[in-house]
Amino acid sequence: MSALPETVHRPVAHDSALKHAQGTALYIDDMPEPRDLLHATIGWSTRAHARVLSIDLDAVAAAPGVVAVMAARDLPAGNDIGPVLPGDPVFADGLVEYHGQSVFAVAAESVGAARRAARLATIEYQDLPAILTIEQALADESYVLPTRVLRRGDAAAALAGAGHRLNGRLAVGGQDHFYLEGQVAMAVPGEGGAMLVHSSTQHPTEVQHLVAKVLGLPDHAVTTEVRRMGGGFGGKETQAAIVACVAALLARRTGRPVKLRLDRDDDMILTGKRHDFLIDYDVGFGDDGRIAGVEFMLASRCGMSPDLSGSINDRAMFHADNCYFLEHVTITSHRCKTHTVSNTAFRGFGGPQGMMAIEYVLDEIARHLGLDPLTVRKANFYGIDERNRTPYGMVVEDNIIPALVAELEASADYAARRTAVDAFNRSSPWLKKGLALTPVKFGISFTAKHLNQAGALVHVYTDGSILLNHGGTEMGQGLFVKVAQVVAEELGVPLGQVMLTATNTAKVPNTSPTAASSGADLNGKAAQAAARTIRDRLAGLAATRFGVPASEIVFREGQVSGGDQHIAFADLVKAAYFERIQLSATGFYTTPRLDWNEATHQGRPFFYFAYGAAVSEVAIDVLTGEAKVLRVDILHDCGRSLNPAIDLGQVEGGFVQGMGWLTTEELAWDAAGRLTTHAPSTYKIPTAADVPRDFRVALYRDDNREDAIYRSKAVGEPPLMLGISVFHALKDAVLAASGSGAGLRFDAPATPERVLLAIETARVPTPEAVAAE
Ligand code: MTE
Ligand code: HPA
Ligand code: MOS
Repeated sequence: MSALPETVHRPVAHDSALKHAQGTALYIDDMPEPRDLLHATIGWSTRAHARVLSIDLDAVAAAPGVVAVMAARDLPAGNDIGPVLPGDPVFADGLVEYHGQSVFAVAAESVGAARRAARLATIEYQDLPAILTIEQALADESYVLPTRVLRRGDAAAALAGAGHRLNGRLAVGGQDHFYLEGQVAMAVPGEGGAMLVHSSTQHPTEVQHLVAKVLGLPDHAVTTEVRRMGGGFGGKETQAAIVACVAALLARRTGRPVKLRLDRDDDMILTGKRHDFLIDYDVGFGDDGRIAGVEFMLASRCGMSPDLSGSINDRAMFHADNCYFLEHVTITSHRCKTHTVSNTAFRGFGGPQGMMAIEYVLDEIARHLGLDPLTVRKANFYGIDERNRTPYGMVVEDNIIPALVAELEASADYAARRTAVDAFNRSSPWLKKGLALTPVKFGISFTAKHLNQAGALVHVYTDGSILLNHGGTEMGQGLFVKVAQVVAEELGVPLGQVMLTATNTAKVPNTSPTAASSGADLNGKAAQAAARTIRDRLAGLAATRFGVPASEIVFREGQVSGGDQHIAFADLVKAAYFERIQLSATGFYTTPRLDWNEATHQGRPFFYFAYGAAVSEVAIDVLTGEAKVLRVDILHDCGRSLNPAIDLGQVEGGFVQGMGWLTTEELAWDAAGRLTTHAPSTYKIPTAADVPRDFRVALYRDDNREDAIYRSKAVGEPPLMLGISVFHALKDAVLAASGSGAGLRFDAPATPERVLLAIETARVPTPEAVAAE
């Protein structure tokens, strides 16, 4: 099989592209509704932290159209659906720990009837003191998990001996997933207590297990099916479970199918988001900007329960180096417990927050020394053969960052544009421009080693058509088309001959979530293994027929050839059937080379790294703080891309989502712990109009040095962190506008208010300056 690939590495359209555009792609709420379907809603806590003295649902139950009402007291089996550790009840039992926590649920004949009825509940609370901010949690030492420290060398000594030293604080905001399709599930009871759950989830197996748990059933009695999500972004890794469980509980109780689709406001109030962080840094460095030692304190808002916060904060620690060699470093990670919604996975999974810490520090060093930030970044890059070990002990084996950044610096014309921006700023009093180049290095693999496995199932029917199933889920990222490309390639058939079916726990069991950007890496390899099993069987038959060794049989363009003989793939398949050769196979894959000791924080948590870099140029209005992204140049590493069209889309989308996180998307809680930004009217995600008008995205051409599927690299999350360049370009513009250097506090998101405030703060003379005049 030495011929050039036919199907992989090609820019094939997303399998649902037309359906997405035409509105014919089916999401759960579009499915034909089963007879007798009921609609559910969740009634939630109106207090941040309180004892629940009584719950009176009589008026709810008596309301028109209501068929069933359930609270904690009505549960048939378990109540806790914490994904890793306990702490997430389906219904609050005696205690509420955030404003918006699920307390009860209603099933009614219509969505409107359910929602109207839910308002009739009478719940008596006794308020308890609530911890609503990271600062408060730190002061009270309120944590969901023990503090962790990652240490290499002697940061304190390096700091003491360094020529320069800076310290400061940075706050980085959270982010709502704002998937277009909200959380939704439809539970359909089967015979003997079995339950089929259509769930918009990244983790069908976890939904299966948790539904089984709350219903008191063995796993085999529950099937989860997911055709596609209208976006997940990490928000449907664990957060889909409560919706599925409530639907299933009400379906069990009523014996009727139940659909639960959260309304947008409820979705934003009830479900977890990206962790906001408070970051303290203390850094020592030399005249060239090279870091001698650095200490970070990373404190994150985990909310009321652990959820995935352990792994998320670990990943933040593992990305506080980004592309830079930190010889003497101490990273302390506090996982703060607050009486707010339990925060969860979000594209990057803590990595973006860790990266913000080091990128901010490098920018501050440059400001202090009067150097270009890019010069300081380059001075700190990991080396190729030395200075290449991460603080957690993994060697950066394929450091392409210096080469990739050099290429982008040239193609984006960084130096000339730096000069042009400075010249513009000297002559423009009310508009200021800013420019920044920031790199990305992101570790690929689940840090929880056992999750790095996948299974697939391939059937070949006797007409030669192929049905493919695997454990990954499609959320718009193009996983299905990539895995189909792999199978088409292996069997030498046109892509259209391979059909993908909905992810289903009854077809491929015990799956990992589609997360950590590993969907194509894991499921692609598993599907490849299944396809190769079938190919080998078919090759054996063809070899016998053609009288050549099986190793000489070639599958290509729908033909199977050996020597000068050919047979159509479909004909060979039919012949194999009559020879009683099995035309179905499973495949399984585990990621190699992982070796990670959670206790010591040392080892190899990642199979490899994905890299990228972005240059952003912005303009701000000094009088209003409004900003515009003028031009963005990106060079991103997808290894040898499995599908350059899909990957370009992932890079563009990830970048824009990262830009939104750091510029306009702001979550605000009031003094009572109520989220006040729970609709698009108050929570501003980027729209088409915010996409940089001049947007130049290219893929870096370099094979993955590890044996990942067809030498590609994972692409789902890393580009989000390219958005960090926009934040630093804004900071560059703010410093130009205010004439200040290091030490001006500038938090994320850099909303117009923050931009304006930073400029105004810098312009107000300090008492010392006034006294000196
Ligand atoms: N792209 C789209 N269109 N929609 C999504 O929900 N999720 C992101 C990323 N890209 C997402 C997306 C996240 S958080 C991850 S982990 C990966 O896709 C998951 O898919 P993959 O592993 O197949 O890349
Ligand atoms: N990334 C994303 N999701 C996860 C991870 C991870 O490392 N671990 C568990 N869920
Ligand atoms: Mo992505 S945050 O790993 O679902």
